[in-house]
Amino acid sequence: MEGFDLAGAGFDTAFIHAGQRRDSDWGALATPIYQTSTFCYDTVEEGQKKIMREIPGCYYSRSGNPTNFVLEEKIAAVEGAEAAVSTASGLGAIGCVMVAFLRTGDHVVCGRCVYGGTNHIMGTNLAQFGIDVTFVDTTKPEEVEAAVRPNTRMLYFETVANPLMTVTDVAAMSKIARAHGLKMVVDSTFTPPPILFALELGADIVVHSLTKYYNGHGDVIGGVAAGSKADMDKVRNGAMTRFCGTPLAPFNAYLVIRSMKTMGMRVRRHCANAMETARYLESSPYIARVYYAGLPSHPQHELAKRQMREELYTGMIAFELKEGIHGRSAYDAGAALLNSLRLAQIAVSLGDPDTLVEHPASMTHARVSREDKEKAGISDGLIRLSVGLEDVKDIIQDFEQAFAAL
Ligand SMILES: Cc1ncc(COP(=O)(O)O)c(C=O)c1O
Repeated sequence: MEGFDLAGAGFDTAFIHAGQRRDSDWGALATPIYQTSTFCYDTVEEGQKKIMREIPGCYYSRSGNPTNFVLEEKIAAVEGAEAAVSTASGLGAIGCVMVAFLRTGDHVVCGRCVYGGTNHIMGTNLAQFGIDVTFVDTTKPEEVEAAVRPNTRMLYFETVANPLMTVTDVAAMSKIARAHGLKMVVDSTFTPPPILFALELGADIVVHSLTKYYNGHGDVIGGVAAGSKADMDKVRNGAMTRFCGTPLAPFNAYLVIRSMKTMGMRVRRHCANAMETARYLESSPYIARVYYAGLPSHPQHELAKRQMREELYTGMIAFELKEGIHGRSAYDAGAALLNSLRLAQIAVSLGDPDTLVEHPASMTHARVSREDKEKAGISDGLIRLSVGLEDVKDIIQDFEQAFAAL
């Protein structure tokens, strides 16, 4: 993009143009896929300088690839970061950040309600390396503050938490992190741009599962961490390249670049469909409770309104059915409901064009201990819904026919 200054451009323009480079060989508009594992040098001296990062360039695709660089620049631009590192999965990004910044003897304060895989890293994997984790309710700053110890190095939470949709005040958490010198890492997978900008609200590092809204087509597994150049150098060189070995495949980087061009439109439509579906679910006589940050009944609705842009509140909803519908437990009624849906697919993951529905207690959070599930409020009757891009009347009609079949 020569001659156009992206600095003052809107998000939709940035989603399309940021990071884009004119292909010097053929002028291709779409970013070429550099499907190569290695790169050639004219001389030994050039090779050595590239490997030692004394001159720019690529030497091996585990540590960097031109297609990935375009994606990373695009994401850094829309997140307001100095740099970004793309990884093979969202969990890969989280793992690389842990490896980059934590050492034996450190302590982490982590949100109690987080994705099941993250809960596993925090509760099991970090312990293997002698790193302690305290899980707290990050909607209560006093609980976070009280959990900080002299050896605490990191504060970690999700903006809108998986699966209960609790909203954490990012700016309030940032004050605590600054006061105690903690690295604040925020998983904003449920609230991608243009909904929420975690770095602007005070996070040091934002992570996303690119698998979800960033790619948005259900055909890629990927992740990203974004933040300062110094922090991202540690994530790329110290963790991803030399320890975890988890780069994003260039073909997947290409797919996410392509998908980001429609990200603004897609995310807004997911949110609009979710808002209407949440209102419908809340009015249903079968439903005990709907968890959606856009509803005035959500306990952190006012915070969500302040912290999220354009009245966009994510495309994710959770709900619980009433106990005793036709003599069924909430769990049995939930299973019957899911089995009766025809448009919505029973599947984990989220942010796809297709509406997806799942049962956290037996799927995404199956490996979280019963005790931790209870503490986090994840009941056996909880259902999680990723509202897709279909006509919203069809999504609602699907639920109506499934409720009627209960
Ligand atoms: C909030 C959140 N963070 C991270 C992940 C992990 O991402 P991935 O599946 O791409 O490894 C998930 C996956 O569902 C998630 O929901």
